[in-house]
Amino acid sequence: MPLATLRQVLDEAAKGGYGVGAFNANNMEQVQGIVTAAQEVSAPVIIQASRGALSYAGKNYMRHLITAAAETAPEIPIVLHLDHGDKPETCFDAIELGFTSVMMDGSLLADGKTPSDYAYNVEVTRRVVEAAHAKGVSVEGELGTLGGIEDGHGSGEVHLTDPDQAVDFVDKTGVDALAVAIGTSHGAYKFTAKPTGDVLAMHLIEEIHQKLPDTHMVMHGSSSVPQELVDRINAAGGELVSTFGVPVSEIQLGIRHGVRKINVDTDGRLAITAALRETLNASPSEFDPRAFFKPAREAQKQVAAERLTQFGAAGHAGDYAVLSLPEMAERYARSPVGAS
Ligand code: G3H
Ligand code: 13P
Ligand code: ZN
Repeated sequence: MPLATLRQVLDEAAKGGYGVGAFNANNMEQVQGIVTAAQEVSAPVIIQASRGALSYAGKNYMRHLITAAAETAPEIPIVLHLDHGDKPETCFDAIELGFTSVMMDGSLLADGKTPSDYAYNVEVTRRVVEAAHAKGVSVEGELGTLGGIEDGHGSGEVHLTDPDQAVDFVDKTGVDALAVAIGTSHGAYKFTAKPTGDVLAMHLIEEIHQKLPDTHMVMHGSSSVPQELVDRINAAGGELVSTFGVPVSEIQLGIRHGVRKINVDTDGRLAITAALRETLNASPSEFDPRAFFKPAREAQKQVAAERLTQFGAAGHAGDYAVLSLPEMAERYARSPVGAS
């Protein structure tokens, strides 16, 4: 099966009323863990690579890892997505490399830190949509800014998404999916207490969904930061301070109101760190890296399988035949704004 496009996978998720996990990967163990999880629960899956991931692994390694994944799991619709493209040229490079979906994050300037103005965001996103759709590739845009700067991405200022501006943005850009800012942030330190309705603006998702029922929403910063993982890391010598993530129940509420792509990076990182610390501590005389990386890969798999199930994607891998990029390009040519 060819790599799937985000547009097709999210269109199908909307029909089925579920969400699809988008998991960040930087190396072979993460890719294998994520894809094996999708196979075990029979779910479509989105693997996303940030610019940091591409520079860590190397572009060719990342591309070939995903090709290997698609060959190993031909029964699974797998999307290869660029996470937080900082400028159109980065998105164009990813498309050349074989990504079937790109995020143009025009909510920030190309430094990845300074909030942009609206006209800039519309212009860069529209340019990417035009070029991507001609090749059948899907595009995610972002409106509003997340909080948090700990992973080096973001301004630290939160600007929640304005629903009326979202309507104008989708109309002017033709994005397939819209990342909305509702009070989440990247990384492990999102909230100092379990977030209430005042902290997480879930009502914005409902409002945007009413105004844009055919637009797929994306929740960034959606790791749940399980206490159990934080405790295990600290028990094994880690020093994480008390923190709270996004409760899965809030994500499930979002899915009922049009959230279709849920970005999870930190939970995979925590699970891998817990597994590595425990295994290293438990076997001080061991020096075969496979002894450490196998449990780490298994930990990534468990997180991905659990989230795919919680988001309702389990059991949906075989619902449809994946369309190729030329087939998607034809769909976009028939219906230029969006493709449904
Ligand atoms: O956007 C944030 C993702 O968690 C990716 O993080 O840039 O450190 O790979 P990264
Ligand atoms: P987390 O840090 O909550 O996993 O968010 C990841 C993300 O949004 C990647 O774009
Ligand atoms: Zn993000």
